Amino acid sequence: MVTTEGTPNTTLNSWGIADFNLATYLADYKTKVEATLDASLVIAEPPTVYESMRYSLLAGGKRLRPILCLATCELLGGTVEMAMPTACALEMIHTMSLIHDDLPAMDNDDYRRGKLTNHKVYGDDIAILAGDGLLSYAFEFIARQTQAVAPQKVLAVIAHLGRAVGAEGLVGGQVVDLQSEGKPDVTLETLEFIHTHKTGALLEACVVCGAILAGATDTECNRLSKFAQNIGLAFQIIDDILDITATPEELGKTAGKDVAAQKATYPSLLGLDASKQRADALIAEAIAQLEPWGEQAIPLKALAHFITARKN
Ligand code: FPP
Ligand code: MG
Repeated sequence: MVTTEGTPNTTLNSWGIADFNLATYLADYKTKVEATLDASLVIAEPPTVYESMRYSLLAGGKRLRPILCLATCELLGGTVEMAMPTACALEMIHTMSLIHDDLPAMDNDDYRRGKLTNHKVYGDDIAILAGDGLLSYAFEFIARQTQAVAPQKVLAVIAHLGRAVGAEGLVGGQVVDLQSEGKPDVTLETLEFIHTHKTGALLEACVVCGAILAGATDTECNRLSKFAQNIGLAFQIIDDILDITATPEELGKTAGKDVAAQKATYPSLLGLDASKQRADALIAEAIAQLEPWGEQAIPLKALAHFITARKN
C-alpha cells in the first residue's frame, strides 16, 4: 500500500502496485537519495573543493537517474539498499557533467537548478576540480559502500558505468555536440549520436547497473538497455523542446540557449510537433520492452511517461 507517511517499504512488491502513485514514489525515493547524498560527502581538507562539490550535488533536482537505478534493481528482485551506492554515484557523475557543461569553455551558463552555476560561485579552477573530485568519488563510493552484492557484479557495474561516461559515451557525445555548434548542416543522424551519447548513455547505465546489481540475466539486461536507450533519447528531445517552450523559472536555468548558440536540435530539424511525436513514439517503444514484467514494471512505465510529461 502506498502511503505518504514514513519511509516506504524497500521492496517493489510491497508497494501494492494497484495503488501505485508516481508523485508519492518519486518524493519518497528522492528523500532517501537526498539523505544518502548528504551523508556521503562531508567537508574535509581542503574545504573549498568539498564545499564546491556539495554546492552542486545538493542543489536539488529530480534525482531521476538514481530513482531509475533503484526502481530497476527492485523490479529484478533486488533491494533499495543494494543499489543505493550506485544510485548516488550516478547522481555524482550527472552533477559533475553539468558543472563541466556549464563552464565558459563549454556552454557558459550562469544558472543551474535555480542557482548560480558552480564556476560563478567558486571560479573555473575549483569548478573543474570539484567535477573531477565528484567523478572519482563516484567510483570509490560504489566500490566501498555496496553491500550484499557479489564482488563480480560490483565490478561489472563499475566497468559498465566507466564505459558509459567515457569517450564511448558522455564524453564522446559532448565532443560532437561542441563540434556541431553553429554548423548549419548538422544531420538528424549526428544529432541522434549526440543525444544517445551525451544523455542516453548515462540513463542506460542507471537502468542496466540497477539490473546487474539485482542479478539480472543477459536477456533481461538487453531488454532493459533498449528500454533505457529509448527513454534516454526521448528525454533529450523533451529537453530540446523545453528549451524553446518553457520559462527560465520553470527550467531553473537559462531558456532559449540552443537557438542562441545555433545548436541543431530536434525542434530545429523536425519542428515542435514532430519532435513531440517522436518522443512519444520512443516512450511507447520503451514501454513495450517491459512487457515480460507485467504490472511489476508499473513504476518504470510511470517514470518513462513522466519523462515526456515533465516541465523542467
Ligand atoms: C547537458 O546538456 C550536458 C550533458 C548531458 C553532459 C555533458 C558532458 C560533459 C561535460 C562531459 C563530462 C565528463 C565526464 C567524464 C562524464 P545540455 O547542454 O544540452 O543541457 P543543459 O541545457 O541542461 O545545459
Ligand atoms: Mg548546457
